[in-house]
Amino acid sequence: MVQTRVLPGDDGAAIREAAAAIRAGEPVAFPTETVYGLGANALDAEAVARVFAAKDRPSFDPLIVHLADAREVRRYAVAADADDPRVALLAARLWPGPLTIVLRKRPTIPGIVTAGLGTVGLRVPDHAVARRLIAAAGVPIAAPSANRFGRVSPTRAEHVVAQLGGRIGIVLDGGPCRVGVESTVIQLAGGRALLLRPGGTPIETIEALIGPLERPEEGPTTASLAPGRATSHYAPRARVELVAADGGLAALPGERLGLLAADDAGRRAAEASGGPYAAVEVLSPTGDEIERAARLFDALHRLDAAGLDRIAAQAVPDTGLGRAVMDRLRRAAART
Ligand code: TXA
Ligand code: MG
Repeated sequence: MVQTRVLPGDDGAAIREAAAAIRAGEPVAFPTETVYGLGANALDAEAVARVFAAKDRPSFDPLIVHLADAREVRRYAVAADADDPRVALLAARLWPGPLTIVLRKRPTIPGIVTAGLGTVGLRVPDHAVARRLIAAAGVPIAAPSANRFGRVSPTRAEHVVAQLGGRIGIVLDGGPCRVGVESTVIQLAGGRALLLRPGGTPIETIEALIGPLERPEEGPTTASLAPGRATSHYAPRARVELVAADGGLAALPGERLGLLAADDAGRRAAEASGGPYAAVEVLSPTGDEIERAARLFDALHRLDAAGLDRIAAQAVPDTGLGRAVMDRLRRAAART
């Protein structure tokens, strides 16, 4: 057990202390615009191994390497990929931001960061605390989301403490995350462009810049391409069941049933047709897709804390940021 301290992310001394911990090989939790990350020096294999240990990850999944500046891409990706004009275009328009670009890696990135793959995921996060931390550490920071393996990703410092308290030394507090779902992950290689994970940057925005993205079919192959695609993931303790946008469930005798409503209209419909609900969360009263994404994990954490047996989760439109929300809901609902 280590003592976990929550330090203010807007404090220069706290950033310096956290940066020194990163350089000393200790994992540090820090805010990004998407979710909180558990970071380590990406050039130090042992430091990265401590991240896997703290998360209880059963296997070494590839981690995203966070950079302070897009110009650093060429230090970690092979020249042929770093010079791809699509990378320059995406970096100019969408970085800093919730987009991860997977490229063939240089040998400077240790194999544990990429789970032995020949490629590395790179992203410049759009959060002042994250960028100040990376700059102060002077090294790229490899970071998965700062949750226990398979559990709901953290969008507040409290979520990190609840899952990783006693296992890590420092949590930098940057308040609630603005975007609330993880980055969109794409792979650019040899002229192809693959969507590996929908996320905080709408696919439509990427396609408007570089043309159509290939969408690999879900399944074992793509699960190994990007392990965040493992079918069951992001799961609260209660059993999650997906229902229609205006649907609900009826509580069984003695059952504590929760409702994750898409909007106010959905809540009214679910209460009229089902229930009773022991806890209710509305993702966005007006049905705004940005607000829904920003509140998704926070709502799941609160429902988790309510000690429910089952949660009825309403579907949202599968476009724009709604695609990332539906992706996470389907995985939360998956049993395997
Ligand atoms: O927004 C985010 O992406 C957050 C913040 C902290 O940056 N990070 C995050 O990390 O969600 P994680 O480890 O929970 O998910 C990383 C995803 C995984 O699905 C992983 O498989 C994929 O990115 N990924 C990373 N490197 C890859 C690579 N070389 N090839 C294929 N997929 C990769
Ligand atoms: Mg994750």
